[in-house]
Amino acid sequence: MSAVLAVPQLPPIQWQPLREEDMADVAAIEASVYVFPWTIGNFRDSLLSGYQCTGGWIQGELIAYAIVMTALEEAHLLNIAVASRWQGRGVGALFLQHLIEDLRKQQIEMLYLEVRPSNTHARQMYDRFGFRQLGLRRDYYPAVTGREDALFLGLNLGEN
Ligand SMILES: CC(C)(COP(=O)(O)OP(=O)(O)OC[C@H]1O[C@@H](n2cnc3c(N)ncnc32)[C@H](O)[C@@H]1OP(=O)(O)O)[C@@H](O)C(=O)NCCC(=O)NCCS
Repeated sequence: MSAVLAVPQLPPIQWQPLREEDMADVAAIEASVYVFPWTIGNFRDSLLSGYQCTGGWIQGELIAYAIVMTALEEAHLLNIAVASRWQGRGVGALFLQHLIEDLRKQQIEMLYLEVRPSNTHARQMYDRFGFRQLGLRRDYYPAVTGREDALFLGLNLGEN
């Protein structure tokens, strides 16, 4: 799988499956964008488990990644991140669009995810794509003081 999508203000982005040799770059971005990052072992386990692990490259530099678990006609977006210096320029939205189109081709009907209520940028992105809140998972995430709930969101891929 490989595709090049472009928006006017961005260089072309190459979307490709992540490989073992990308894990260090993934973990470095992860540690720089999350207060509670996944470990490199979490990403390696995702690869070994057969999750759909996708990266986005600009001129050979990894700038974004996503981990999606699929089961039958459902998919769960476990992680999506854009390197800090590329955030706010449309990469996240382009990436999510790419993932959704790819999942539709696989006849996936529902895409689920969890997001922190405090993650306003991510929540705005999911809102724009039409995700709806399906539930609330109490004390789901670690937080600086105690725990933070997760909003459980879903997008019906057959609707639009
Ligand atoms: C969430 C994330 C993936 C979004 O990627 P991005 O490339 O920054 O997002 P985009 O530039 O494509 O913006 C997409 C939408 O997100 C929202 N958004 C993104 N950055 C924003 C900002 N600085 N201020 C307000 N809204 C913002 C907006 O709704 C935006 O749409 P718009 O430009 O039409 O207003 C990225 O910020 C990130 O990696 N964050 C850290 C990891 C993370 O929180 N992942 C999500 C876990 S659930």
